[in-house]
Amino acid sequence: MYVQRTPQIEKLDQIKMPGQTKMPDQIEKGKYILDNTPPDTPKLIRGGNYIREGWDSAKSICLIFCPNEEDEIGSLGRYLQLFTEHKVNLLHIESRSSLRQPNGYEFMVECAPGGNITFVIESLRSQCSYFSIISRNHRDNIDTVPWFPRRIRDLDKFANQILSYGAELDSDHPGFTDPVYRKRRKYFADIAYHYKHGQPIPRVEYTPEEVATWGMVFRNLTKLYPKYACREHNHVFPLLIENCGYREDNIPQLEDISNFLKDSTGFTLRPVAGLLSSRDFLAGLAFRVFHSTQYIRHSSKPLYTPEPDVCHEVLGHAPLFADPAFAQFSQTIGLASLGAPDDYIEKLATCFWFTVEYGICQQNGELKAYGAGLLSSFGELEYCLSGKPELQPFDPPKTALQKYPITEYQPVYFVAENFEDAKEKMIKFAQTIPRKFGVRYDAYTQSISIIDSKQQVETLTNNLNQEVQILMDALKKLQH
Ligand SMILES: [Fe+2]
Repeated sequence: MYVQRTPQIEKLDQIKMPGQTKMPDQIEKGKYILDNTPPDTPKLIRGGNYIREGWDSAKSICLIFCPNEEDEIGSLGRYLQLFTEHKVNLLHIESRSSLRQPNGYEFMVECAPGGNITFVIESLRSQCSYFSIISRNHRDNIDTVPWFPRRIRDLDKFANQILSYGAELDSDHPGFTDPVYRKRRKYFADIAYHYKHGQPIPRVEYTPEEVATWGMVFRNLTKLYPKYACREHNHVFPLLIENCGYREDNIPQLEDISNFLKDSTGFTLRPVAGLLSSRDFLAGLAFRVFHSTQYIRHSSKPLYTPEPDVCHEVLGHAPLFADPAFAQFSQTIGLASLGAPDDYIEKLATCFWFTVEYGICQQNGELKAYGAGLLSSFGELEYCLSGKPELQPFDPPKTALQKYPITEYQPVYFVAENFEDAKEKMIKFAQTIPRKFGVRYDAYTQSISIIDSKQQVETLTNNLNQEVQILMDALKKLQH
C-alpha cells in the first residue's frame, strides 16, 4: 500500500555550506528547511492513488546519526558537504541534543531518492557514534528500519497516502449511482485532505437526510447497548450525550469528541480522506491519535455500510477511547507497530481487528461487546453474543494468525478477560517482534523515543525512580 509520488527536489546548494560565515535561520534545532509546501489540489496518479504533488516522503530515506565530536555547527556543515559531493538532495534536516551521548548532537536528514546514497551511508556509518536508517523502502535493505512517525506532527506526512479519495466508490456501494452523495463524499474527503495536526477539525453542517440516517442508526443501537455493550461503553455514553451532542437529531462533531477524549485519556481524532495502510493507521495509535471518517453512510441503507463511517467511529470507537485502560491497550498495539517488519504489521492489524474492532470481553460472568465493529452494527451486536459463532480466548500469538472476512459477520470472535489483561498479553507479544530498539512515547513532547543506548535506559530508570518516590510518599500518607 505504498504510494508512488512525484519527486520535486530542491538543490542542496540552497542551504548553508561550509565556508559560509553564518548558518541560515532554517537550520536551527528542530526546524524544517527545504520544506516543499505542496499545492492544495490532490492529484490523481498512476494506480488510482491521490497524492500531494511535490511531496516525496514515500521514497525518501531518513538517516539519523550522532557525530563523534561535540561541535554541532562544524560537523553538520561537514556532513552536508558529503551529501553535496555525492549528489544526494535533502528534503529536510533536523538537529537536536542527543539522548544517547552526553553533550552530543544528533541529526536527522531526509534524503530524496537519487545520487550516490550508498556511499554517503557507508561514509557516515564509519564516522558516527550512532547511525540508523529509516525508510518506507525498507525492503530494499536489510539494515533499514521501516519508516515511522517520530513526532505527532509527522502524522501529516502520511495522512494523504491513501488508496481511495472522495467520490470514488466501488460499483456495489449503495451510493455508487447517487451523484449528490458522491459530491458530498468528496466534500468530506477534501476536509480531511487539507487537515494539519494542531488545527481544529472543521465542523460540518450535516443535511437533514444525513441526520435522519444517523437518527435511525442511533435509535436502533442505543436500544441494544444496555444489554450487549461492555461496562466501559455504557459508562462513557451518557457523558458523550452530555458533553458532545450525541442525540438522535444531531450528528456529533468530531472536534467536540476529540476534545472530550483529550481531556479523558489524551486520545484525539484526526479526519482521514481515505484508506490508510495498516502500518500508518497503527502508527497513529502510538500517539493516541485515531484516524476517523466524518462522512455518513448512504441513506438508502441506514443499517448497513460497506466501510467505516461517522456512525461507526463515534458510536463504536469514540466511547472506548475515553476509557484509560482501553486507551492504553490501543496505544500498546500502536507502539508495537513502529518500525516492525511487514509480517508483524499484519499480525498486529489482525489483533487490532479482533479487539478494537470485533472484541468481546468477560464482565461479571457475562460476555459483552467492546469492539467498534460490533457496537456500530445493529445485526452483528446481537449475533456475536447469540451463542452461534465460535468464541476463543484472546491470545495474541494465536489471534494474530486468524483469517477474517471484512464484509460479513465474523465466524470467530476472541474474548478478552479485561483490557488490562489484554494489554499485558499485547506487551508480551510485542516483545517477540524482531526490532533492534525499544520505543517509548513521551507525552510531554508528543514524540517517540527510540531506545537503543545504555544512557537512555539510565535516564529512564532515574525517571522511574522519581515516580516510585511519589508513589511511596502517597502510600505513606494513606497509611496515616
Ligand atoms: Fe473501526
